[in-house]
Amino acid sequence: AKDLGDELSKILVTEEQLRTRLAEMARQIEADYPADRPPLLVGVLKGAVMVMADLARELRFHAEMDWMAVSSYGASTKSSGVVRILKDLDTALEGRDVLIVEDIIDSGLTLAWLKENLESRGAKSVRICTMLRKPDAAKVEVDVAYVGFDIPTDFVVGYGLDYAERYRNLRDVGVLAPHVYAGED
Ligand code: PRP
Ligand code: MN
Ligand code: MG
Repeated sequence: AKDLGDELSKILVTEEQLRTRLAEMARQIEADYPADRPPLLVGVLKGAVMVMADLARELRFHAEMDWMAVSSYGASTKSSGVVRILKDLDTALEGRDVLIVEDIIDSGLTLAWLKENLESRGAKSVRICTMLRKPDAAKVEVDVAYVGFDIPTDFVVGYGLDYAERYRNLRDVGVLAPHVYAGED
């Protein structure tokens, strides 16, 4: 079979770097929440699936997980900041400490909206944990408690991140090679 990695122009964050950093983030999260009141982990489908799976297993407390699927819509692209819920949580948030788990914060619009939405449901606290963040792409300030890596604005894939639903299952995070965009899809 063809190696998916051949379709990357470079690897930005290796599987091992992701694992090491995730362990550090988990220790920080464990220190920030009382052991008898762990946060509800809320993953944002689909990109956050890998981070959630790895983070939850790294945490040394009962990691309850729930999921949301959201979609941006409106005039043009996802950067409208208008978000629609495609799949909502099964869990009531009143009085809960919530930790949103994301793969990447790009413009910040999805997370800014989501954080406010979850807070409005009466959550006691809402924090954000993201594996990647693109500081230079920020359109809105989002207060992020836990960040794995700040990266440049290149189009990255892997570890949950997709290009047209592909490459999510790459173990590393890489920059997609230009010849892929040119596309023989
Ligand atoms: C991506 C990514 C984040 C969001 C970040 O999800 O996983 O959820 O975009 O973008 P923003 O900071 O500009 O709002 P996407 O909408 O591609 O859905 P997916 O997770 O299913 O790939
Ligand atoms: Mn996503
Ligand atoms: Mg996507």
